Amino acid sequence: MDSNGTAGYRIAPPYSHPHAVSVVLITGGAGFIGSALAMRLLQAGVAVRALDNLDPYYDPAFKRRNLAELQELGGDRFTFQEGDIRSASACRTAVAGVDAVVHLAALAGVRPSIEDPVRYMDVNVTGTQTLLQQIDRRDVKFLFGSSSSVYGGNTKVPFAESDPVDRPVSPYAASKKAGEVQCHAFHHLRGNPVTCLRFFTVYGPRQRPEMAIHQFARCIANGAELPFFGDGSSRRDYTFVDDIVSGLIAALERADGYRIYNLGGAATTSLAELVALIEQGIGKPARKKMLPDQPGDVPITFADTALAARELGYRRTVPAADGIQRFCRWYLAEKAAGRRP
Ligand SMILES: NC(=O)c1ccc[n+]([C@@H]2O[C@H](COP(=O)([O-])OP(=O)(O)OC[C@H]3O[C@@H](n4cnc5c(N)ncnc54)[C@H](O)[C@@H]3O)[C@@H](O)[C@H]2O)c1
Repeated sequence: MDSNGTAGYRIAPPYSHPHAVSVVLITGGAGFIGSALAMRLLQAGVAVRALDNLDPYYDPAFKRRNLAELQELGGDRFTFQEGDIRSASACRTAVAGVDAVVHLAALAGVRPSIEDPVRYMDVNVTGTQTLLQQIDRRDVKFLFGSSSSVYGGNTKVPFAESDPVDRPVSPYAASKKAGEVQCHAFHHLRGNPVTCLRFFTVYGPRQRPEMAIHQFARCIANGAELPFFGDGSSRRDYTFVDDIVSGLIAALERADGYRIYNLGGAATTSLAELVALIEQGIGKPARKKMLPDQPGDVPITFADTALAARELGYRRTVPAADGIQRFCRWYLAEKAAGRRP
């Protein structure tokens, strides 16, 4: 184990302290991106509060481990509040005294949202509104974890923030678009600085176990069949989690007015190329099970990050070819330690 309590994975210092924030609430702070952000903020000397209901969408044991690592790293500067963003009283307690809220709590899967759209709207839309209602100071900065899925089936690439995003193709995507417009109404009425960050497929240590990269690594390592949707030509812009965290911290520092930024890798990898990279990282061939395209899936995601570069100083630092190898090393170390199937 290294100093982050995470086998095979280390976030390298030094970190500058994000100016103008000393206490940050991260909703969904026990999850994948939330815990990575919390880790970096704690390392930079910021106090972090996490509000999370440990939703069983994937095994909450992984979230408890993330929390244990944060507690170990942050000591008194880290506090965890188990609670639901749909509860006004939980949100009121969570936002008291913070300088900024990074709202990442959500039901995050595209395909399950097609099975249970009402629950997705309840958590992602009603939950977001409930949280916004409880922010009672105008100087509290608000960051919203949006998604590249708002671009729907757009074919003009790369996707720019000025492109139309009124044709989502899944309830999840619709809920993220709704979140952006809820945030705008909040900013308009209350005056708080609000920044929406559209993340493009995020991966790295602690990635949600049902996401493709993690699932593929597990299948290949265990010699299980790998579900391969379509003909392998669909392309995704994959973003290493450290780059997303850097983008979030830049947005915390510079939040002003109402802004929307893409945070992506600004490059694409086909499904076939992705599987080949994971085969290389795990050191075994995949047993592919060929399946038709999935409803709700889009043919390509590709971020134009020029605006984030100009206004946030954001840039991708980890290309997919390196990041996938880093992910595979983390996964194999976790598996060897008996912490992952
Ligand atoms: N991972 C990606 O590739 C990606 C891409 C685009 C957008 N996003 C967005 O980023 C955010 C974080 O995603 P992630 O991949 O870390 O997912 P995650 O599931 O690991 O984290 C989300 C956290 O929210 C918590 N949560 C769910 N419902 C809640 C509720 N009602 N009250 C309180 N907490 C609740 C969950 O327990 C979980 O810990 C989400 O908003 C997601 O939509 C993620």
